[in-house]
Amino acid sequence: MHPLKVDQPYPFEQWWVAAFADEVKEDILGRKILGEEVILYRPEGGAVVALSGICPHRAFPLAKGCIKGAKVQCGYHGFEFDSDGKCVSVPNQKGVPTNSDLKSYPVVERAGLVWIWTGKAENADPDLIPDLDEVGLCDGWAWEQSPPIKVPGRFTLLIDNLLDLGHASFIHTDTIPGSEAVAMLPVSIIENGRTLNAQRIAEGFPSTNYKKFQFPEYEGEFDEHFDAEYYGPCLIRTGGASHKAGTGVYLGTQNFLHFITPETPYSCHYFVISARDFQVDNKALSQAMIDIGDQIAPQDVAAIGAIEQVLQTSDTLPREVSARADTSALKVRHLLESQIRREISARGTEEVPAS
Ligand code: FES
Ligand SMILES: [Fe+2]
Repeated sequence: MHPLKVDQPYPFEQWWVAAFADEVKEDILGRKILGEEVILYRPEGGAVVALSGICPHRAFPLAKGCIKGAKVQCGYHGFEFDSDGKCVSVPNQKGVPTNSDLKSYPVVERAGLVWIWTGKAENADPDLIPDLDEVGLCDGWAWEQSPPIKVPGRFTLLIDNLLDLGHASFIHTDTIPGSEAVAMLPVSIIENGRTLNAQRIAEGFPSTNYKKFQFPEYEGEFDEHFDAEYYGPCLIRTGGASHKAGTGVYLGTQNFLHFITPETPYSCHYFVISARDFQVDNKALSQAMIDIGDQIAPQDVAAIGAIEQVLQTSDTLPREVSARADTSALKVRHLLESQIRREISARGTEEVPAS
């Protein structure tokens, strides 16, 4: 499926972010993930569980049901399911029909995020979640999360977008100070076996109001990293370190963590957290980061939505051409295709796994 050269739209044997942890309460949160309706809730306020969100009786969406203690009750004819997804009661009869259980998804709560495993449960190794300490979701850093966004485009378009930050020079000129110059910076690709980082370094970058706000005690120019680092289809880190120009003196790192989860083959969920290791107690700076994110994200969402519309409404597309700046995105497409192909060959069929 475009732009990948495999039909399966996304990898299933993968951890994805289902929600911010504070979105999930005792009540039901319904969310479509990789084409499947999922319900998330905290039985009696405890750890998050994730169950398939369609009632096996007559396909009523369980997101419209209700919680009874630790159980989910379907809102149509009252079948009840425990927090493992087991059907435990059907009105007006003893016992329950066979095959009436819900699928239960492996879930891990980490760094304020609810991670869901969409592949075979026996493969759900929490060590496969990207190292969140490494990107700044750890002690000693300040983090701010933005409201979750639904992107009307396939998740690969968002990955393409984030891996070529040169687009900032064209669609974010009014929201990212200094972004006009980003597209002209040379890109180095750094691969370490776990991640792929498309790195631009601006040397002697002039200060802006934004930089003055971040580092008020420094008045000179900056050597600034514009990283776009792929940790897998679920996470891309952008941003990076700032140094005093020409000296190597470290000032601090501002990361933007982009957690991406396919919703359907043609849309995705987008969870953004910004994390910094300087001025960690500065609440005004934290609010400014949220405000900047609120201005930037809709510009990307609009661009991706416009492309998705073209992909869905054009009978023929011009043959895709790529520029030098697309090298990292093309490498990542290749990584993603290989991941999906490995999954298909381990499964022994091209068919998408049934829930
Ligand atoms: S559809 Fe759920 S109980 Fe009937
Ligand atoms: Fe962008």
